[in-house]
Amino acid sequence: MELRVPVLWCVLASLLAPLCRSDDGFGSLEDLNQGEGVLSFLDIDAVSAIAPKPLMVGLTLIDGAAAKGAVCLDGTLPGYHLHRGQGSGENSWLIQLEGGGWCNTIRNCVYRKTTRRGSAKFMEKLLPFTGILSNKPEENPDFFNWNRVKLRYCDGASFSGDGQNEASQLYFRGQKIWLAAMEELMALGMKNANQALLSGCSAGGLAAILHCDKFRNLFPSRTKVKCLSDAGLFLDAVDVSGGHALRDIFAGVVSLQNVKVNLPGSCISHMNPTSCFFPQNLVANVKTPLFLLNAAYDAWQLQSSLAPSSADPRGSWASCKLNHQHCNSSQIEFLQDFRKQMLGSIKIFSSSPKNGLFINSCFAHCQSERQDTWFAEDSPLIGNKGIAESVGDWYFDRVNVKAIDCPYPCDKTCHNLVFK
Ligand SMILES: *[C@@H]1O[C@H](CO)[C@@H](O)[C@H](O)[C@H]1NC(C)=O
Repeated sequence: MELRVPVLWCVLASLLAPLCRSDDGFGSLEDLNQGEGVLSFLDIDAVSAIAPKPLMVGLTLIDGAAAKGAVCLDGTLPGYHLHRGQGSGENSWLIQLEGGGWCNTIRNCVYRKTTRRGSAKFMEKLLPFTGILSNKPEENPDFFNWNRVKLRYCDGASFSGDGQNEASQLYFRGQKIWLAAMEELMALGMKNANQALLSGCSAGGLAAILHCDKFRNLFPSRTKVKCLSDAGLFLDAVDVSGGHALRDIFAGVVSLQNVKVNLPGSCISHMNPTSCFFPQNLVANVKTPLFLLNAAYDAWQLQSSLAPSSADPRGSWASCKLNHQHCNSSQIEFLQDFRKQMLGSIKIFSSSPKNGLFINSCFAHCQSERQDTWFAEDSPLIGNKGIAESVGDWYFDRVNVKAIDCPYPCDKTCHNLVFK
């Protein structure tokens, strides 16, 4: 199965809007704004076949946040969407950290202030709750009746920055947003949780790794606490021109937003801060049980880390990165090597029985929030098991889950992203 994606990828994972516009030459601002809807378009489209009317949940701004210095890039209040749990899920809490790239320069952080990723002024007032956020047992068998929260992402540094830039009126307060949100949710009843799961996709999947142990420590030891990172396994890989495109971006995020102070001491003690923003240098030291869900040929990493236009000025990868069927044999070989690096990077992590894995050989990105990939008739499988069941089996200790797919093109169950 393939999903046709209109135009811009920047959108879905939206690394940096200005980058998409100028450096990548991807369309206009209007395109981008339309593109901003692509993710939800896809969600709604994918959902409509089985769930014509997804649950829509309202945005709540965190009133007390400003007094704590916890503000979006432009100084507006951060926010979240909460749908209350019921019955046996009344004291269970799922926190989903929103993703959406990063900003790594003054220029693209200033641009970001004019989007929902940097300002409450532009956030949707209602968001569809699908996939792992759905309230219907037939769409989300294990978490449907939990308290489910989507925490909005408006800091541009995976909820981990701590600083500001006076001249450009930029606030880098990701860490404070994280703390203010946790405080608010605890007061709303999360303090009584007997079960909790911190999850997130893309930049939010990285944030779920970065905050996993801190999340765990909010609760007494009798509370069952685990973390799920979806499409958060960003590799410090060599790009198609021999450079380190993503490392360069992360270096900018980490230094501009003063992320260093919030990175785990176990990494910072022996590596530079930029390296400590890469999950491969963190996951083995996360003490809390963690599940890594990732496509082996992560569509975002292919486009923005391995073969961004800056690393491919002649456009040799242009059609391959829009549609995997257009990759030639040497490009596929490069991607197989990327998969091997990904598997290599999680060897130690994977040897711990508490952890879970689902690495499918697909060209996808973010598979837990979308209904079609999370839990539907034809969802992606490894062996006979889909993603929702795998995450549920691991969370509830029903069975160990260390699912690694055979290499491309063996998997016929993928929902590959194809771009026009
Ligand atoms: C694949 O495409 C690239 C870029 O166009 C080219 O350099 C390479 O030689 C091709 N490889 C094969 C095996 O055709």
